[in-house]
Amino acid sequence: MNLPRRPRRLRRTSAIREMVQEVRLHPSDLIAPLFVQEGSGAPEPVGSMPGVFRLSLVDLVIECRELAALGVHGVALFPVTPADRKNAHATEALNCDCLVLRAVRAVKAAVPELVLFTDIALDPYTTHGHDGLLTADGSDVDNDATVRVLAQMAVLHAQAGADFVAPSDMMDGRVGAIRRALDEAGQTGTGIMAYSAKFASAFYGPFRDAVGSASAAGTRALDKRTYQLNPANRREAIADALLDEQEGADLLMVKPAGPYLDVLTELRNQTRLPLAAYQVSGEYAQIQAAAQLGWLDLPKCRHESLLAIKRAGADLILTYFAKAAAGELARG
Ligand code: PBG
Repeated sequence: MNLPRRPRRLRRTSAIREMVQEVRLHPSDLIAPLFVQEGSGAPEPVGSMPGVFRLSLVDLVIECRELAALGVHGVALFPVTPADRKNAHATEALNCDCLVLRAVRAVKAAVPELVLFTDIALDPYTTHGHDGLLTADGSDVDNDATVRVLAQMAVLHAQAGADFVAPSDMMDGRVGAIRRALDEAGQTGTGIMAYSAKFASAFYGPFRDAVGSASAAGTRALDKRTYQLNPANRREAIADALLDEQEGADLLMVKPAGPYLDVLTELRNQTRLPLAAYQVSGEYAQIQAAAQLGWLDLPKCRHESLLAIKRAGADLILTYFAKAAAGELARG
């Protein structure tokens, strides 16, 4: 054939392919979500997330050191709140000695260079598992009452040493309220990574097992559609994310990642802020489960899934694969 353009010329050797590669994964792109629990027991495996464990404070610090040594700069902490500490008012969220605050202090003291992200939402602390306080008749989440608690919670996290607070609750006006509260408390250096486009996704199921909220009645399939985004809506997602930017967010996030790459790319085109994407528990579980059955190649699918998220526009990726992927990148 007489072809003036032969695209395969750019794919001919591994050296050429590497020279024209458009995006690369680096350990500093990755943020590891970590589950921390009370007590000093051994790491407890999360059934629906092979390779993920609930860690004691001691093991959490060890894990953070190992991640930092692999070049992962960020971790996101999620507490497993004992059932007897949960109630309808989420009072444990404002307990100065609660598990996540002890975890922040311990990790900051041991691995000060690690960038710490903490989750701002009430679901670890409410008996019903919703991200906020309920209205008097229990029919909905009370937006403004919830935001008042979240702002106080963010200040406690900042004072304990969190580098970024990460509101994942999807209440209206929470980013602005948190920014004001942080500034009034003198925490002007603490950033906000807003879960800006967080969808009402069924892919969060394994996470709800991990933090133990599945034991609260029906929580695994909890309906959060009055605050999380409709998976059908891209325009609404972008509009909501841009509000977070106006309210003072430093980083915007799209969540889940893989099923919402179009939202990520669209948001990349609409904002100049750095973007994060959260490859959530269900995305992780899918790949792990297929690999366990011998149906997928785990390292290759892991890498490809992360590369695709980066290509779509993410600067940062929260992923349960962080340690394994960073380890593989370090080995080259
Ligand atoms: C709750 C929260 C959730 C996740 C992170 N923060 C679950 C939810 O909204 O129900 C999910 C993360 C994952 O699935 O990996 N505020």
